[in-house]
Amino acid sequence: MMTTTLFDIHLSPESRLDSVDLNNPVFGSVFSDHQFRMDFADGRWSAGAIEPYGDLVMSPAAMVLHYGQAIFEGMKVFRQPDGEVALFRPMENIRRFNESAERMCMPSVDEGLFLSALTELVKTDKNWVPDGNESSLYVRPFMFASEAHVGVKPSANYRFMIFSCPVGAYYKGNVKVKVETAFTRAAPGGTGYAKAAGNYAASLKPTAMAREQGYDQILWTDAVEHKYIEESGTMNVMFVMDGKLVSPSLGDTVLAGVTRDSVLRLAAQKGMEIEERKVPVAELKAAAESGALTEAFGVGTAATMTAIETIGFASGDRDLPPVEGWRWMPDLAKSLDDIRRGRGEDIFGWRVVL
Ligand code: COI
Repeated sequence: MMTTTLFDIHLSPESRLDSVDLNNPVFGSVFSDHQFRMDFADGRWSAGAIEPYGDLVMSPAAMVLHYGQAIFEGMKVFRQPDGEVALFRPMENIRRFNESAERMCMPSVDEGLFLSALTELVKTDKNWVPDGNESSLYVRPFMFASEAHVGVKPSANYRFMIFSCPVGAYYKGNVKVKVETAFTRAAPGGTGYAKAAGNYAASLKPTAMAREQGYDQILWTDAVEHKYIEESGTMNVMFVMDGKLVSPSLGDTVLAGVTRDSVLRLAAQKGMEIEERKVPVAELKAAAESGALTEAFGVGTAATMTAIETIGFASGDRDLPPVEGWRWMPDLAKSLDDIRRGRGEDIFGWRVVL
């Protein structure tokens, strides 16, 4: 069946929803019925379409496969108490997507058109939004270089797509992180602030090595001196030290997380003192040893808020106090969740109910 709204919509003849256990979605392995697709050629975007989720046909010479010109975003849709569904701060992701595109020499996507594609796709697959306490529909917009060409230059052609997956928790429980002082996630002048696929590829080996040593994730340090904390794995990071909420400041080596921004704003609203600044590894270690460091956690769209129970420094592991006694993170997590799931007042205007 084909209906026309803003985009052509080719509906899947049959939904796969009946074969899926929406109560137990494993993160990132189940995909909803439809996807959005739009192509860029001759200097402009063609009309986009919603179509059944499915494999792509592409040239083996597609430039993304060789030179890695690819970016993505991650955002979530939450079931509301009245059965409606709501996106969380989608414009933040749309703006960041275009900043990533600019860094990677890719065309931007009109913000209004992006939002329409997103909302139309989510409405089409609205029944795929789970309602469990830890569940949501994770939406993945992305763009890649599709020109068939051998030689390093910006591609002339691109494909922009969006698909979605019902998901549960990204991390099962708390994490142990290793302060990384050999490998680097992002260097000044590099692509660290962009959500570029290559950033994640480069993190795989150091992360696998940390896992072999018994950690779940890495606490990245700066590329120049390995003296300052930057991010943790796929998340931004925050510490409660001497009762203040401390987070590494943004710059071109740190991804400007939407969850990071949301948690900082919630914390300020709750009266917490906030410091966005350089966080020396030495200070963190001293605070972990003296007891001044009372909480540490990652914040990200996929992970939401993930407690760090152990930090591995060069001189050895330091455990945080038991999470059950933490003053701030559980409270911030609850407030964030209440807003996203429509249980609390949307004081910042973050929900976009579809
Ligand atoms: C997100 O938090 O949405 C991310 O992009 C992390 C991820 C690579 C799953």
